[in-house]
Amino acid sequence: MEFNAIVDVKARDATDCAVVGIYEQGDLGVAAGHIDEQLGGLIGKLHSSGDFAAKTGDVLLLPVAAGAAAARVLLVGLGPRAAFGRKPYRKALLAAAQALAKTGASDAIVYLALEAVGDLDVTYRARMVAELFSVHAYKVPDLKTAAKPKAAKLTNVSVAAESAKAAKAATEGLVIGAAIGSGITLARDLGNLPPNVCTPTYLGNRALQLAKEWPSIKTKAIDAAGIKALKMGAFLAVTQGSVQAPRLIVCEYRGARKGLPPICLVGKGITFDSGGISLKDPPAMDEMKFDMSGAASVLGALRAVAELELPINLVVVVAACENMPSGAAVKPADIVTTMSGQTVEILNTDAEGRLVLCDAITYSRRFKPAAVIDVATLTGACIVALGNHFSGLMSNDQTLADALSAAGTRADDRVWQLPIGDEYADQLKSNFADIANVGGREGGACTAASFLWKFAKDLNWAHLDVAGTAWLSGSQKGSTGRPVPLLVDYLVERAGAQ
Ligand code: BES
Ligand code: MN
Ligand code: ZN
Repeated sequence: MEFNAIVDVKARDATDCAVVGIYEQGDLGVAAGHIDEQLGGLIGKLHSSGDFAAKTGDVLLLPVAAGAAAARVLLVGLGPRAAFGRKPYRKALLAAAQALAKTGASDAIVYLALEAVGDLDVTYRARMVAELFSVHAYKVPDLKTAAKPKAAKLTNVSVAAESAKAAKAATEGLVIGAAIGSGITLARDLGNLPPNVCTPTYLGNRALQLAKEWPSIKTKAIDAAGIKALKMGAFLAVTQGSVQAPRLIVCEYRGARKGLPPICLVGKGITFDSGGISLKDPPAMDEMKFDMSGAASVLGALRAVAELELPINLVVVVAACENMPSGAAVKPADIVTTMSGQTVEILNTDAEGRLVLCDAITYSRRFKPAAVIDVATLTGACIVALGNHFSGLMSNDQTLADALSAAGTRADDRVWQLPIGDEYADQLKSNFADIANVGGREGGACTAASFLWKFAKDLNWAHLDVAGTAWLSGSQKGSTGRPVPLLVDYLVERAGAQ
């Protein structure tokens, strides 16, 4: 899907479909008023007759709009004007994308970014158009043998702006929105693939492919021998029960001068989490193919950053392996030495995410990063705490936590900060090693994060527990691509601040 910005307040441009908004009280949005004139008051009548209530996300397609410059007009309800902000705006856009996809239109002009949306600027308003239209066009990579429906017709979406200056700002937003869309798409594709396809080797190959596509990215996919040479004893313990080869994937993106300390994104890449010897219950075990969603999201963010050519340095580190039971698998009570030198007593082999991550975080030190952000489907406890609405955020640096939290709000990919600290780390005391990998049921998301904190130490570090947000279960089962929008927003903001 291609996006561009045009200057057209009065809805004079020809198009397959003009997308215009109406508020619940009956006041027409900027462009709807002009189209209403072109149509001799038809839109106003539709509202006053009660045929179109204009509740947020209501849609009505006027197929043949004789008199208007557009071949079709799609009316979109914006809800009450006083409450028109980020959420209703996004809801209206998504409804428009859904309704448009059902028409035969191959191009459209979206006039909704002309509206005042809280205090959001036109760059942001346009960005949401590109992001939501891209996300709506996403197709799950399925292996169904039935014939596929034809590709979507809608290929060109223009966003109307009120002036040349506004159109320029809108274009910037469209570029960011489209990049976020393509990052989300990569993350969702990787998450949705079955675990017999999306293996650690496959993830490594996809990361190598990113480096082929973008000269700004350099990728290494380090194999078991390399991981052993790095003395990543915790990572090796998790992979040792699997016949799939592990990969430590390292992608370096250079968008700024060499000396500028990078941001380091670390992703949990468990391509299948059976629990290992501490085997999970069967019913929802299939969902553990999503246990590489953290890895998928940091690779998605990397792709977006490369597309945007952001003037930052970024390093992505992914610890990819399977967690399987076997005669060679790590056992409860095994003690391993991590790359940091600290020893860990593995009391539960199902708490494997923190084991691969602690070594990946230690590895990230070599880049002398300005900040390290790890992303992981780490704990069921985080889902119990926050459901699938907020990702859990833990950090040892409140400035970083606040920046991530603000990015999550802007991107509508929200986080809720949870505590870490010695109270939780004390639950991880072991009689036989420096630290145990589990600390009981209470505060499970916080003890997991506090385990990582013991390895992050003096780094500016934050942890995103996306167990509840990276994928949906039930009839909508599938990867969401979260927290790509948050990560890209944070990095765009950082690039601007430099
Ligand atoms: N990958 C899981 C966490 C998870 C559970 C993600 C459900 C998404 C949905 C993680 O490796 C895990 O198994 N965590 C355990 C930790 C426990 C053994 C301390 C958990 O949450 O039960
Ligand atoms: Mn597990
Ligand atoms: Zn896991």
